[in-house]
Amino acid sequence: MKYRDERVLVFGATGQQGGSVANALRSHGWQVTALVRDPTTDKAKALADQGIELVRGDLADMQSIEAAMADVYGVFSVQPSSGQGAAYGVTDEDEIRYGKAIADIAVANGVRHLVYSSANAAGATKTGIGHFDTKSEIEEYIRGLNIFSTIIRPSAFMEILTLPGMGLEKGEFAFFMKPDQPMQFIAVEDIGKIVAGTFADPAKFGAQTIEIAGDTVTGAELAAKFSRTAERPITYHRFPDSLLDQNAFLGGLARLVDLGRLAGNANIALLRSQFPGLLTMDEWLAGAGKPALLSAIQAGSGEVALR
Ligand SMILES: NC(=O)c1ccc[n+]([C@@H]2O[C@H](COP(=O)([O-])OP(=O)(O)OC[C@H]3O[C@@H](n4cnc5c(N)ncnc54)[C@H](OP(=O)(O)O)[C@@H]3O)[C@@H](O)[C@H]2O)c1
Repeated sequence: MKYRDERVLVFGATGQQGGSVANALRSHGWQVTALVRDPTTDKAKALADQGIELVRGDLADMQSIEAAMADVYGVFSVQPSSGQGAAYGVTDEDEIRYGKAIADIAVANGVRHLVYSSANAAGATKTGIGHFDTKSEIEEYIRGLNIFSTIIRPSAFMEILTLPGMGLEKGEFAFFMKPDQPMQFIAVEDIGKIVAGTFADPAKFGAQTIEIAGDTVTGAELAAKFSRTAERPITYHRFPDSLLDQNAFLGGLARLVDLGRLAGNANIALLRSQFPGLLTMDEWLAGAGKPALLSAIQAGSGEVALR
């Protein structure tokens, strides 16, 4: 199949996942439309500069989604979540409504392939964390619709490791896993690689739910990798119990890591054979991760920015 004339509508293209997907699809020759809230922002203009068509719209405005979806072959669906704090003011109910509405409108418009981005902790049973249980509900809804779909479940992004508040500025990195406990991560740019590969081979990846990650590292391994990259000692410890006890959200995430649900169960060897070039943590730290790490080390201390 030649995709040059086929068009994919990408949601969230001014953000991390959508941006990665729009970029990867475009570079593989797809026609790409991005639904953006404001076409005049620098991020939107950068998409247009890559030959990506911009349509103005909003997840809260169903008519704008219907208009954007006319005559598209495929849709990449991702929603902001309550897990991103006040960034978008999205409730769990909003996320569910948006995710289901995009799927419904895709069905109504005869979209041939819907790729929905969920999260690795989603699944058949509740996690107790709002922005994971939302995704389980959207996944289940999509599976019940008459549409050809692929659901990807990304692990934690490598990019979140350099968010403020995890001690890098003091050389004492803290995160959810115990020092010897492995956890999976994915570089955001690899989400685009995987989604482009999925759209390119619907026979292989359609009607599947695929957990995705690029590497598995323990806390102690992360500290060693950070130390090598920054050329200074960085130690590792798990977030202190006092923080996890007093912050129900962070405590809940730590519990899911301990249960294995958020630590990740992706088959990375298989993913590497299907989607060549997925970044290891070392490769990410040799590229985009290095400036992010160095700037986190130079930043002032602050509260944990993970929400
Ligand atoms: N961080 C992780 O480790 C991780 C792992 C797995 C899954 N996730 C999930 O990933 C999702 C977030 O993806 P991301 O990190 O790619 O998001 P992001 O970088 O924060 O970008 C959010 C995108 O959504 C757009 N948007 C926000 N509100 C909108 C609205 N009302 N109408 C239309 N577009 C709107 C934003 O557009 P503007 O430019 O207009 O603001 C932006 O393009 C969440 O559901 C999260 O739970 C995260």
